[in-house]
Amino acid sequence: MHLPAALLLLLLLHSAESGRAARHYGARGHPWGGGKVRRQAQECKEYIEAGEKYLDCQDQQLTTVMQDWPTDIQHLLLARNKFQVLRDNMFSQFTRLKSLDLQQNDISMLEDGAFAGLTQLTTLLLQHNGLRTASEEMLLPMHRLSYLRVYDNPWNCDCALDSLVRTMQLPSNRNLGNYAKCAEPLSMRGYKMRKINVELLCAPDRDGEVPSRPQIKVKPEVTSICRTYLFPKPLLDCSSKDLNHVPSGLPSDIVKMDLSGNNIKHLKPQQFLMSKDLKLLNLSSNSLQHIDTAAFAGLLYLRELDLSNNSLHNFQYGVLEDLYFLRKLSLGNNPWICDYNIHYLIYWLKHHPGVQYSGLTCAEPDEFRGWRVEDYVKTYNGECPKDRQTGGIDVGWAGLGGTDTDNEAQEVMGD
Ligand SMILES: *[C@@H]1O[C@H](CO)[C@@H](O)[C@H](O)[C@H]1NC(C)=O
Ligand SMILES: *[C@@H]1O[C@H](CO)[C@@H](O)[C@H](O)[C@H]1NC(C)=O
Repeated sequence: MHLPAALLLLLLLHSAESGRAARHYGARGHPWGGGKVRRQAQECKEYIEAGEKYLDCQDQQLTTVMQDWPTDIQHLLLARNKFQVLRDNMFSQFTRLKSLDLQQNDISMLEDGAFAGLTQLTTLLLQHNGLRTASEEMLLPMHRLSYLRVYDNPWNCDCALDSLVRTMQLPSNRNLGNYAKCAEPLSMRGYKMRKINVELLCAPDRDGEVPSRPQIKVKPEVTSICRTYLFPKPLLDCSSKDLNHVPSGLPSDIVKMDLSGNNIKHLKPQQFLMSKDLKLLNLSSNSLQHIDTAAFAGLLYLRELDLSNNSLHNFQYGVLEDLYFLRKLSLGNNPWICDYNIHYLIYWLKHHPGVQYSGLTCAEPDEFRGWRVEDYVKTYNGECPKDRQTGGIDVGWAGLGGTDTDNEAQEVMGD
């Protein structure tokens, strides 16, 4: 994170300008206390101007609001961060907020209650984001909203947008949604949302439209099926929902995900790719039979994985390679088959001694039923002719698992 000297100087000058009264909040939840210059770029600044309190957290790579931010502010500046999803009640502690600037983030989803509690808000800036749809419900808590900017978002002007467009077009709402244009469907591309004929949005057959065109859902599947809890840790609870697949639209900032007690048979590649902060993934009591090699891609920080009570026979070669920080792996109550295909798992565990695991018992074939899988692998090696041994686990897979030094380095990074 090396900043060019000119930029540093600018930052310095800027913070000097804001005066001595400015207080600093760490973007990651630590008040740094105005320490080293190098850290200026990771701070939020609190200041008072014309009697109103501002918290400036622009350009910080933030994906969510922090619990240690002061709640009595009137203006919250969050432009140019990395917000992707605005969740229900995300800002509800800032009850005095008059303006909220979220422009130039990566926001692609707004939950209906995202702005709940913001009864004093008059100005909301959401321009330059990735919004395709939103409902008028999100505006309801903000009785005083008079200024809304949503241009430069790829709005999909279909039926789901009907209520929002109608609200924008009310003559009394002169400053809601100015300049915003439809990006989809093709027949409406480039038209201003405040000017389009709303009657067309929900018309059954729009001319020029392919009838079978899939409707974009108002909410990703996950928000309608699962429950999200923000405290104490962001948790997504999708347990016992009769799901036969991992739901789409998994949020990016979730720390724990519970998918237990469903009917998922197959984990496909990269379904958790967006959930980079995930530390606990619970897939117990599904019907898992197959896990694709890249299924856990992106789960760099996963610490605990519960795969117990499934129908797994072995792990395909490579499946575990993305799990650098794994500490606990629950494998019990699966019909592990003790043949050559189980060796990858044992090999991986051997090379990741920091991983606590449980429940690794052979279910098949008959001669090994009830054996510990490790013991079976030892016998296999012992009994094997020499040529097979050299092509076997100790040599053949060498270099795949991280070395101990790698693990230590990663551990330091993670904490
Ligand atoms: C996973 O979910 C099951 C069932 O809800 C629960 O019994 C188990 O403790 C959970 N595993 C972890 C690691 O939290
Ligand atoms: C194991 O999963 C099955 C459904 O797949 C469920 O009925 C059973 O209660 C689970 N057992 C435990 C111990 O969680």
